[in-house]
Formats: sequence, structure tokens, C-alpha cells
Amino acid sequence: MHFVGLSRTKRGVKYFEPYTFQRSGLKVANRIALSPMTNKQSHEDGTLSDGEYKWLIRRGKEGFGVLFSCAANVSMDGKGWNGELGVYSDLHLEGLTQLAQGIRACHSTGLVQLYHGGARSPEPLIGCRPWSAVDHMFRLGKHEVSVRAATEVDIRRVINDFKVAALRCQQAGFDGVELHAAHGYLLHQFLSTENQRNDRWGGRFENRIRLLMTIVSEIKSVINPNFLVGIRLTPEDKYTYKGTDFDESLHLAEQLIEVGIDFLDVSTWDYRKSPDKYPDSGQPIISWYRSRLGTDFPLFVAGDIWDPTDAMQAMQYGADFVCLGKAAIGVPDWPSKARQSEFKAPRPPYTKEHLAAADLSQPFIDYMSKWENFVVSE
Ligand SMILES: Cc1cc2nc3c(=O)[nH]c(=O)nc-3n(C[C@H](O)[C@H](O)[C@H](O)COP(=O)(O)O)c2cc1C
Repeated sequence: MHFVGLSRTKRGVKYFEPYTFQRSGLKVANRIALSPMTNKQSHEDGTLSDGEYKWLIRRGKEGFGVLFSCAANVSMDGKGWNGELGVYSDLHLEGLTQLAQGIRACHSTGLVQLYHGGARSPEPLIGCRPWSAVDHMFRLGKHEVSVRAATEVDIRRVINDFKVAALRCQQAGFDGVELHAAHGYLLHQFLSTENQRNDRWGGRFENRIRLLMTIVSEIKSVINPNFLVGIRLTPEDKYTYKGTDFDESLHLAEQLIEVGIDFLDVSTWDYRKSPDKYPDSGQPIISWYRSRLGTDFPLFVAGDIWDPTDAMQAMQYGADFVCLGKAAIGVPDWPSKARQSEFKAPRPPYTKEHLAAADLSQPFIDYMSKWENFVVSE
């Protein structure tokens, strides 16, 4: 394996420099992205709330070049939790349009993360039994959930739902979408080696990737050529999501490029990490992807990026864009602060007042209180 990370270091590209997507010509103000983050602020019917608008637009005004929405469900039966943004109905169009316009007004690039929860969509929330690639029992929080295997009709329907949702985002005025094929949700459930269906949607690698590949092709066949379609991938097993082989994930990335995606977003949780499969390689996950994607294919990377030194290091490993999650919650003005290379982002726990001043509304603050050591307990 030849690693190309070093040659990129020499180019000395900085995260606050602009970026142009070659195929679409879309220009992005800088390479600092707000990572997709569930924030529980949407209304019960999935429409946009003022709280969610403020949280995102504040980051746009503070100079994030790219704003990803939270994971937004493309089907009614793909909802994973309350307060989730919906993109499954024209009911959502007005809020989506308002958000897209707001993002554009602050010269940021707006991308909606499209997802379906699959096995992880609780029955009380969706009103029916959750479905996935295979039938199985699944532990969701304190509950054992019985999941049924997808029928051909479910699969056809969800492909269409992703397509229609992407069109809706285009109509609303967004710059593109990201398909969430990471973190153990439906698309990842199909990719997993645990998907041992014996039809063309499971079993061997070519079959397990078919759902994702078909959705990409279907979306591409209807959207404008300059509307971005990217994919978020998990490179290896993590937490409860199992069945991801690192080499397969690299191979999948290559196949996705062939089918015409515009960017890849790798969710590492730690940008410095080497793959579990090759712990002694001395090469972080990002560099493996960079080497397989070629020098110029747009690569977003998330995972424990807090300080300018982290961002620069991630880019030296091969990232084109750095996605900030927790740092962007606590430090909304990260892009301007990080102009100083010696800047150190204040780390959690944050007070509730601090988070309110960073434009998190109460449901988001309550949600973050459940994350270990993120909010100062009273
Ligand atoms: C509150 C919270 C919500 C998240 N929601 C999502 C989500 O909706 N979709 C997604 O792909 N990742 C989600 N993530 C993962 C982040 O996008 C990011 O990849 C991860 O937090 C690692 O980056 P960080 O160390 O900068 O936080 C979430 C993370 C946090 C902290």
C-alpha cells in the first residue's frame, strides 16, 4: 500500500482556505464542516423548529464552510427518536426551504443528512414493527426489540423514499445530501456482514452494498448534476454496530466513486486512530482512505478534532474537510478562533448557560446532559 498523505502535507493546504468541488464547480468558503448532529429540536411531526434553525444558522454566521443537518428520516417508519428532522413529506418543505435560504445567506454550504433507522426505529414511535436486512432480536436501550426482515416491497419503497427526499432537499434549495450509511442504521445494517439474506440484497459483498449503490444511482438519475451526493461510512466495528470489515469499507468507497458520488465522509470517532485490522501499520484510517481514493477525491473526516493542531494533522493525514462535532457545539465561533494556530478550544463540561449562549435550545441541552461529562451537573 502506498500512502499519499505526506505529499499532501507539502501542499500546505489550510482548513480556512476555500475548496471547489471539481465536477459540480461548487465553491465552499472553507474546509471546516459542522458534523451531522442529532439535536432533538425539531417538532414532533419532523418540521423545523426555531431552535434548530438558530443552532445551525449561528454556526453558519460564525464561519463554518459546510453545515450538515442532523440525521433526517426519509420514511415514517425510519424515525429513530423524538425531535428528529423529517424529510419524508411535503409538510417539511417550508422549514427545509427556510433553512436552506438561511444557510445560503451566510455563504455556507448546506447538506442534509438522509437516513432511515431500520432496526433502530422504536415501534412505539413508528407505529409498526421495525425492519432491517434480516430478522433478529435487537437490544435498544433497555428493551429487546423484534425486528423483521425487509420484503422486496420494503426495499423498493425505501429506495424511492431516499430518492424523493433528495429531490425535496434540492427543491428546498440545499447544495446536496449525505446518505448516512454509518453508525448502525438501515444502510449500514444492509452493508454489515451480519446481513446474510439469501437473495440479491444480502450475503456476499456485492449484494450487501446493492441497496446503497442502488439508492445512489436512483438519486443521481433525477437530481441536477451540480447537486452533491455524498456518503458517510463507518470504517470498522464500533459500539454496538458490528459486521464492518475495514478492507471491505475501502473497497466500497472505490465502488461508490465509480457510481458517481461527490464526496466521502468517514466517521472515525478519533482521526488519529489506526485500523483495528492493521494496528501496527503506523497509518491512521484517514491515510488508508486517501491512498485508495486518489489524491483529489473530496474526503470529509470527523473524530475528536478540537484544536487547530488536530485539524491540520487530520488534513495532513489526507482529509480535505474537517468535521467538528462536540467542539462545534461548545465553541460556535471555532472558525474565527482557529485562525490562530495556537488556539485551544475550551473542553466540556460546559455550563447550561454557556450552551444556551451558544444557541442550543432546552431540548438540545437536555439531550447533551445525557452525554457523559458534557454538561456541568447541578
Ligand atoms: C450530540 C451528537 C449527535 C450526533 N448525531 C449524529 C447524527 O445525527 N448523524 C451522524 O452521522 N453522526 C452523528 N454524531 C456523530 C458526529 O457527527 C461526529 O462524527 C462524532 O461526534 C465525532 O466527532 P467529535 O469528536 O468532533 O464530536 C453525533 C454526535 C454528537 C456528539
